[in-house]
Amino acid sequence: MKNKNIFLILVAISLLLPNIADARRVQFPLDAATKEVISQNQVEEEWDNRANNREGVTTVMSNRYTSDENLEFTKILQEEILEILQERLEGKRVFEFGFGIGRMTSMLAEYANEVVGIDISSEMLKRAAENLSDYKNITLIHNQILNLNFPPKSFDLLFECTVLIHILNQELLQQTVAKMKELSDTIVIIEPKYYENTAIGNYTNTWPIETYIELFSPYRLTTIKTIVAGDEYKIMIFENPDTP
Ligand SMILES: C[S@@+](CC[C@H](N)C(=O)[O-])C[C@H]1O[C@@H](n2cnc3c(N)ncnc32)[C@H](O)[C@@H]1O
Repeated sequence: MKNKNIFLILVAISLLLPNIADARRVQFPLDAATKEVISQNQVEEEWDNRANNREGVTTVMSNRYTSDENLEFTKILQEEILEILQERLEGKRVFEFGFGIGRMTSMLAEYANEVVGIDISSEMLKRAAENLSDYKNITLIHNQILNLNFPPKSFDLLFECTVLIHILNQELLQQTVAKMKELSDTIVIIEPKYYENTAIGNYTNTWPIETYIELFSPYRLTTIKTIVAGDEYKIMIFENPDTP
């Protein structure tokens, strides 16, 4: 009798599961118009929460993967990035936009003369400061990029990894890219592949390469390489053609 009841409960759950999955598909993720009006405060709160509730590199990566997988993907990303960037970093003043827990910051600081980074999340800054305490050539700032007052072209190179995908508002995205161009003549971005109509998180928007080319114009896309590290990423270097 007991076994029969358990069997009936299992049948009921299995009948319900597809409906639960369907309901989630309908509600998630938010549509583009709703994402447009998510405030910067909400974005900051989301990243603060992530910093407080996730561990290791999964704090800044997808939790569709295990911690070990994310560590392995980070290693692949770093190796592929250095293959392209190592020489360009040596002895340079580098700006990092959105440092997270400092996953890429230490790699930059190993070769650059100086790294200055900003992040919108004060909780991420705490995690990064702890992880990067051995480095004397890193300055971490909690702020929004648009509030910065560095003189134009203060940096030899500007680096960002998976940050632009989290800027949801179109106008803010354009202003952010304009500020990036103000800060440096050489901009390196690493962003995941654009999947049209794919369900992605409420705080994420992927863009096709053409969108980045348009956004960074008149800078030219001088290098592009695909990196497969769990997901597929593109590393793209944009350079100001007017640089002497
Ligand atoms: C996916 S994580 C990537 C962190 C780091 N770049 C890495 O690859 O490990 C995105 C980071 O960007 C920060 N972020 C998101 N929107 C931002 C904004 N508008 N300004 C500054 N930082 C932002 C978040 O707080 C978070 O730390």
